[in-house]
Amino acid sequence: MVDPQALAAVRRALEEAQRVAVLTGAGMSAESGIPTFRDALTGLWSRFDPEDLASEQGFRADPARVWDWYAQRRDGVRRARPNAGHEALAAWGRARPGRLCVVTQNVDDLHQRAGQPEVVRLHGDILADRWLDGAACRERPRCDAASAAAGRPPRCAQCGNLVRPAVVWFGEMLPAAALQRAQEAAAECQVLLVVGTSGAVWPAAGLASLARRSGARVVIVNPHESEIDAEAHVVLRGTAATTLPALLG
Ligand code: APR
Repeated sequence: MVDPQALAAVRRALEEAQRVAVLTGAGMSAESGIPTFRDALTGLWSRFDPEDLASEQGFRADPARVWDWYAQRRDGVRRARPNAGHEALAAWGRARPGRLCVVTQNVDDLHQRAGQPEVVRLHGDILADRWLDGAACRERPRCDAASAAAGRPPRCAQCGNLVRPAVVWFGEMLPAAALQRAQEAAAECQVLLVVGTSGAVWPAAGLASLARRSGARVVIVNPHESEIDAEAHVVLRGTAATTLPALLG
């Protein structure tokens, strides 16, 4: 149960803040039925290491296996619905134009489907595709998605380039513009809410210390301990779908 006094104090800080930033992780979507990243390797996938599936090396080693894992995760995202936490965050943002920036590590589209005005995607979009090799297709000005030959994964019929999910894999750089916008939001906000992340993956996890160093109040919403709890002024030990409506409702 979240401490009511702590909740009231954070509510006041949010209302007084000119700018609020939110960093969300997989826990934000857990109550929508999307397993957190480390939980996602359940069942038949449990024998794989995440880096065997969420890396370019793993994809090149066995494109069909990685493609099938993402196909299963994509089905889960399409079946999922935004939860009360997504809805509360989106309603708060819509009522305060320009004051809330949501930065997410999640590759699902639940913030967007809840109607969140501004969402910065640090790790890409699981429902989108891109070509594995940026190299232009020899026979055409570029590999054309429309010409992709069906398959697991689809491939360019001319040059054999493979289609891959448009997500950031282990060892890959984050999209520079998204990271810059996220760092601006963390540096300029008066309150940073960190919801549903283990804080295990950088540079996303570094946004909490950046916000704190810039003078923001850092509030963590997570039912369990995270690796960045020490950066928080307040830790609300609750879930996203119960705590955010209480905080923002
Ligand atoms: N509400 C809030 N938080 C929750 C909930 C919930 N209902 N359920 C679980 N959590 C918390 C867990 O306690 C954990 O701290 O969500 C966090 C999920 O942690 P991870 O699975 O590590 O997910 P995340 O922090 O988003 O991972 C960061 O690492 O694996 C890569 O690219 C991947 O974006 C991912 C990144």
